[in-house]
Amino acid sequence: MPPERRIRVAPSILAADFSRLREDIDAVAAAGADWLHLDVMDGHFVPNISFGPFVVKALRPHSRLPFDAHLMIAPADPYLAAFAEAGADRITVHAEAGPHLHRSLQTIRALGKQPGVALNPATPAEALACVLDMVDLVLVMTVNPGFGGQSFLDSQLAKIAQVRRMIDATGRDIALQVDGGIAPGTAGRALAAGADTLVAGTAIFATPDYAAAIAALRGTQL
Ligand code: DX5
Ligand code: ZN
Repeated sequence: MPPERRIRVAPSILAADFSRLREDIDAVAAAGADWLHLDVMDGHFVPNISFGPFVVKALRPHSRLPFDAHLMIAPADPYLAAFAEAGADRITVHAEAGPHLHRSLQTIRALGKQPGVALNPATPAEALACVLDMVDLVLVMTVNPGFGGQSFLDSQLAKIAQVRRMIDATGRDIALQVDGGIAPGTAGRALAAGADTLVAGTAIFATPDYAAAIAALRGTQL
């Protein structure tokens, strides 16, 4: 990847210890995390339930990290304002979550937040064609969403490279985020394909040293 492209690491709290969530978010911030990735799941769009805006609101006063909300919910529109008011800085909706993606992204921008669009593994990069100029982030899922600890889908590497070309053609500063099975053994391939923002849950929170885990994702040693 070009040397000037900064690698961002966004720990997913889905893999954190929810009995001591405040301590865990403090620890990853101290360990060098760039963003806090908030995996919101509704048990409808994905076969799992995680948390809603109230957890975001509870954490907001206690962290200076940008809150990166990944809404794996359908419909998403009725909840956008609640996540914005709770303190999310970025709000990412899935292209597959409903029929009015353009309107959802307009709404997020109107709420004063940074809009993102996520693509499930079966969704082609072409789905971005009519909305790329509306977003500050594209999330390419490298697992089928719903659970942490899954294996990275190599099939998504070509899509990451295609999205990278699409983003570069806009000339805009749009983050290319990957999420799912990101670990020291897969992060390098995702970065080489064109990603610049790594979401990781298990590869960080399931380790004894968060700083070393984050550094390893960046491809550096402490
Ligand atoms: C959707 C979730 C997970 C999570 C990362 O399933 O978005 O991908 O963030 O999980 P790990 O890093 O444990 O694969
Ligand atoms: Zn996520």
